[in-house]
Amino acid sequence: MRLFFFHTPERVPANGMADAAVVIDVLRATTTMAWALQNGAEAIQAFADLGALDAAAKAWPADRCLRAGERGGARLDGFQLGNSPLAVTEELVGGKRIFMSTTNGTRSLDRVRSAPLLVTAALVNRSAVAERLLGAKPATVWVVGSGWEGDYSLEDSLAAGAVVAALLEQGGRGLQQLVGNDEAAAAHALWQHWQHDPEQALRLASHGQRLERLGNHDPDFVCCAAVDSLAVVPLQTEPGVLRAS
Ligand code: MLT
Repeated sequence: MRLFFFHTPERVPANGMADAAVVIDVLRATTTMAWALQNGAEAIQAFADLGALDAAAKAWPADRCLRAGERGGARLDGFQLGNSPLAVTEELVGGKRIFMSTTNGTRSLDRVRSAPLLVTAALVNRSAVAERLLGAKPATVWVVGSGWEGDYSLEDSLAAGAVVAALLEQGGRGLQQLVGNDEAAAAHALWQHWQHDPEQALRLASHGQRLERLGNHDPDFVCCAAVDSLAVVPLQTEPGVLRAS
């Protein structure tokens, strides 16, 4: 297995596709997706475009439909959910399909939706994702960070490094055999630096500071930094649709 890390969807190669893709948006889309599926959501249907979300949600039975919309870290008007992992409680999401669009995370998903195996990862489920990859044995894996509107984000690199570390621990192979580009090696080094206090990195990150400016997000930081707190792996089962696996 060779793992390549791309900081943002814009950096994903224009041609070709890996055997497997892992999309990361630690703050907070892929953490929220993992928690929503853990708490019994039927599926997450992800949209880069709000118009497409609206049309798909209208075609779904209203009593089994929730809309989650976030831009700039804030919930969009008219949406029941924003993008907090604390909001996707069992009571609210159980049995429902969540039609979701976020500033960056759902764009990353869209970019690699043609991958034969597509999962999402966050710090909360990085070991479960590593286990899934090792079981599937893809020759090439593209890990795609979501960044912020085309720019690098610290927290997605940290989580990419956490996935690399879990693959090394579970797979028993060396770093040199695993990493396919310098970004993946650098992400692993970043994880080694912050592995004992990932929450500090999330708070230092520019998007962490953006969330702080919007209001108190302490519970979100604690939740998003809780390494390996979940065993669920969100898996694309049809284009744009993620289910628990
Ligand atoms: C995104 O997709 O950019 C994020 O998940 C933003 C957020 O924290 O809500």
